[in-house]
Amino acid sequence: MENNKRSHELTNGLTRTIDVSANLVEENLAYCEIPDENWRTLLDYRWNRQPINLETTPPPWPSLMALYGPLCAGQDAYVAAHLGQSLDGRIATVTGASHFVTGPVDILHNHRMRALFDAVVVGAGTVASDNPRLTVRLCDGDNPVRVVLDPRRRLGVDFDVFQDGAAETLLICDEALAGDRDRHGLSMVLGARRAATGLAAGLVDNSVETGLCPHAILEVLAARGLSRIFVEGGGVTVSRFLQAGCLDRLHITVAPMILGSGRPAITLPPVETLAEGRRPTVRRFDFGDDILFDCGFNDG
Ligand SMILES: NC(=O)c1ccc[n+]([C@@H]2O[C@H](COP(=O)([O-])OP(=O)(O)OC[C@H]3O[C@@H](n4cnc5c(N)ncnc54)[C@H](OP(=O)(O)O)[C@@H]3O)[C@@H](O)[C@H]2O)c1
Repeated sequence: MENNKRSHELTNGLTRTIDVSANLVEENLAYCEIPDENWRTLLDYRWNRQPINLETTPPPWPSLMALYGPLCAGQDAYVAAHLGQSLDGRIATVTGASHFVTGPVDILHNHRMRALFDAVVVGAGTVASDNPRLTVRLCDGDNPVRVVLDPRRRLGVDFDVFQDGAAETLLICDEALAGDRDRHGLSMVLGARRAATGLAAGLVDNSVETGLCPHAILEVLAARGLSRIFVEGGGVTVSRFLQAGCLDRLHITVAPMILGSGRPAITLPPVETLAEGRRPTVRRFDFGDDILFDCGFNDG
């Protein structure tokens, strides 16, 4: 194996290899020198409620626990989102190319987030651009239920999420377009109501007059026992959850790259004063060349 590559056998039968060449400094090892044993401890904590003592976990794992521990702690409904963006706030080029804005540690992080939540949510734009599988492949853990927000049912059935059967998949659309026991490929079609007021106003993508109400989307998922939700993108989708006050956490990983154009990360209606800007509690994590900003909106 090359010096800058690390391979690991996973309990789900896969081998993971990631390039850690840019990350070989002590403080980053917790993220890129994969702590499988500790990761499995975390999974146990999250899914089987096996207690871990965050204070006494031996080094170098405390930073791993610091980042993921809060996401596992409660049993209540919890919504977290993640975006990987350039220094100038772009998540993809104008053509939708986004593989990859951020580096290997953040990509691994994204898979870990999938493994910690009941469901992973993406917008139709992400499926159209990336044809993502949304499964857990770079770390141990079960696949979450996959949820695609496609209000107008503009996506064809050929995308992998609708065909590969790798995990339960839901397509959420405008309630007027969801038939009884409706399916889209292998996915189940569920309807959600639109926002009562112009939720989409001010957002870059105004292709719908009013978007689906994020609270209604969460209600539809909760009715199926899915209460811990990971919103994986893209920018429009995350922005709508943020604008509706539906996010407990937002992870923004910033990569040292300037695109100067492209699909924006967060886009909200204009504010006139700086006092109107949102100031979440923020912790920073070193992701090699990138920095993750862990923003809490309900940390008290
Ligand atoms: N760097 C990253 O972290 C990252 C992560 C994910 C994706 N990406 C990239 O981001 C790009 C896609 O992002 P995007 O912001 O353009 O699109 P997106 O958020 O993936 O999808 C937006 C679309 O999803 C539907 N949608 C989402 N939330 C909705 C709501 N509450 N109500 C109604 N409809 C809703 C709408 O479909 P309609 O248009 O049909 O109304 C909306 O236009 C792709 O290029 C992808 O590669 C980057």
